[in-house]
Amino acid sequence: MTSTTGSDSAASAGAAQTANAHDATAVNNARRSDVPALAVAGLRKVVRDATGELTILDNIQFNIDAGETVAIVGASGSGKSTLLGLLAGLDVPSAGSVKINGTDIVALDEDARARLRATSLGFVFQSFQLLPHLTALENVMLPLELVGQADASERARRLLEEVGLSARLQHYPRTLSGGEQQRVALARAYVTEPALLLADEPTGSLDAATGTAVIDLMFRLNREHGTTLLLVTHDREIAARCARRLSLAAGRLVD
Ligand SMILES: Nc1ncnc2c1ncn2[C@@H]1O[C@H](COP(=O)(O)OP(=O)(O)OP(=O)(O)O)[C@@H](O)[C@H]1O
Ligand SMILES: [Mg+2]
Repeated sequence: MTSTTGSDSAASAGAAQTANAHDATAVNNARRSDVPALAVAGLRKVVRDATGELTILDNIQFNIDAGETVAIVGASGSGKSTLLGLLAGLDVPSAGSVKINGTDIVALDEDARARLRATSLGFVFQSFQLLPHLTALENVMLPLELVGQADASERARRLLEEVGLSARLQHYPRTLSGGEQQRVALARAYVTEPALLLADEPTGSLDAATGTAVIDLMFRLNREHGTTLLLVTHDREIAARCARRLSLAAGRLVD
């Protein structure tokens, strides 16, 4: 299992989306078009296991402009989730840089990284990572409450309605289906209106109709708010809807 799916990173993602956000200019800057929304250079991830060193990602390099829609595709085990975790600063690379709107998150300390995540990016985990002791509504309200937003409840309700869950507000994650949990996770990732939305197989647990509705919502956020989208997907149709595709094979970008 990658560390991006572990419980530590769930807590860290909670912090990512809930840390105190005083700096509204970070969000505004993230929508400037003259700096890439994301600039990745020389990114490498090596882990040690019983059999020695394992290179999971090697020499990953790419830029994404503000407002772009990009799909990350590749076989199971090619490194997609590991890459997304590094881009969100939920995991630390062995080498390389990840600049979000010009700021290298690898070089920041943990607090500064959490602040930048809270103001600039939303993350949808492959395994959802909802907080089990909070209802659907409370899960989505949390990032807003921790930055002191007054109308957290109203905004969270509105977003849950948009993903078709207005009848499930008081449900705890264990009483929601996989697809419902995935939609709560998307609502939580977007409730602070981040400039950059990273999603790991956001339709992986959804039936075709619900999957289309969720993807339509994400592309609408892109059109109406200029949200930069980076989606890991196995779905060819979704990949084709994105303006650009990045293909991973055995930890390397390929043409
Ligand atoms: N902490 C770790 N220790 C050892 N190996 C790891 C670790 N994290 C990931 N791997 C390995 O790295 C590879 C890439 O994993 P990753 O989860 O990024 O793949 P993926 O492309 O997201 O796959 P999937 O499509 O199945 O979700 C896998 O072979 C995995 O076993
Ligand atoms: Mg994965």
